[in-house]
Amino acid sequence: MRFDTIVKGGNVVTPLGTSVTDIGIAGEQIAAIGPGLEAGAGTKIIDAKGHHVIPGVLDVHVHLELPFMGAVSADDYRTGTRAGARGGVTTLIDFAIPYAGDSLNDAADKWMARAEGKAMIDYTFHICITRYNEHKDQIKGMVDRGFTTFKEFMIYESEGWQSDDRALFGTLEKMKEYGTMLLVHAESSRVLDELIERHHTPEMMEKYGAQLHRMTRPNFIEAEAIQRVITWSEATGGQLYIVHMSTRQGTDLVKAAQARGVPVLAETCAQYLVLDDTMFDREDGHLFACCPQIKTPADQERLWKGLKDGEVSVVSTDTCTFTREQKAMWNGDWTRIPMGLPGLETLLPVTYTHGVLKNRLSLEEMTAKLSTNPAKIMGLYPRKGAIEVGADADLAIIHPDKTLTVDCDTLETNADWSPYQGWDLAGFARTTISRGDVIVDDYRVVGQEGRGKWLPRTSAGLQ
Ligand code: URP
Ligand code: ZN
Ligand code: ZN
Repeated sequence: MRFDTIVKGGNVVTPLGTSVTDIGIAGEQIAAIGPGLEAGAGTKIIDAKGHHVIPGVLDVHVHLELPFMGAVSADDYRTGTRAGARGGVTTLIDFAIPYAGDSLNDAADKWMARAEGKAMIDYTFHICITRYNEHKDQIKGMVDRGFTTFKEFMIYESEGWQSDDRALFGTLEKMKEYGTMLLVHAESSRVLDELIERHHTPEMMEKYGAQLHRMTRPNFIEAEAIQRVITWSEATGGQLYIVHMSTRQGTDLVKAAQARGVPVLAETCAQYLVLDDTMFDREDGHLFACCPQIKTPADQERLWKGLKDGEVSVVSTDTCTFTREQKAMWNGDWTRIPMGLPGLETLLPVTYTHGVLKNRLSLEEMTAKLSTNPAKIMGLYPRKGAIEVGADADLAIIHPDKTLTVDCDTLETNADWSPYQGWDLAGFARTTISRGDVIVDDYRVVGQEGRGKWLPRTSAGLQ
């Protein structure tokens, strides 16, 4: 067999096990896996000796160019996908959100247009249902168009995005009917609003500043909402996926629901695994405002255990980049901080360094959480998420312990700061391969802008 590329001698993580072997690539796909693959005329050899080779990472929770809280998130499809590539991410899923008057189709068209011609890696979208009455009869059409994951927010009334229990219940019924999946941002809006109102005084803001972000979002804000939407999933049988889960209580609720057969899955994000709420005590603590906010070391440990034990299936980023200047809009009022963090570039390095190198996850478990599970759950497996014959040749090649120091000046993201500034992280991609193309070489992005493709889907969830 003739190969365009052979990745030679890496420690390769496949569904059948991890071993030192070669990967032969023909066109955009993996054509062979085995030791001693023979190069033909013109075959490019990529030396992976002494490196781990994992399937390209899927970041299934990303917001690029998102209009939000009076700003537009600062990474677009050009910088966002370059950042992803550098972090070994070869597929991302963004959220297409219908604004005033938009149908679900309009939202998908708008997000498609943002990606086309700019994306370096492959992508698709979760379709957000922001006005249930208007959108409910459009869901089937979106499934037929190749979108199998939908999203509802239990907060963000002021953005015009909020869904009530009727919408959650009705959408989950439809998910059951179509074999599709509903992603939910679970926070309890009325109590949250009440806590914000109680704290929103000049005296409190003067005294506590950005710390009010954590003071108004105690863990029960997330836990109550998770419990409630699990109830609707249990009642309807509709596949539910809790996004950006941040609390130990939420994790316990998901575990208990899964044990009684409720079709609920959960993701957490890298920031909830390694950052804690003492960040808000810093001079620049407002930069760390994201939603839900970062919690405590006890929550971190429970989330790591949830990943290990299985109730947490995915690590993503919720990338929603705002620059220092954009974050400065807060001007002392925490309710005005554009919420979100950069993350695509550091997802794999953070999870590898703090998961694998700290013995919280094996290399294979990390691969499951970053590649295989997200691909399966989002209806992209085995095209994505696996090193096996016939799969897209999407690979991340990482050195087992070589670290780079995070410096926002050298990152690909448009952010002029990083939550991990100064951290030494292993796991940056030495080489990233996307559908057979080398897009990162020797830690530098070399891929072509606009080469990324939209990925239509026909299924989602584990039903
Ligand atoms: O802080 C965040 N996460 N911003 C983006 C919106 C969301 O809730 O995911
Ligand atoms: Zn959210
Ligand atoms: Zn999000």
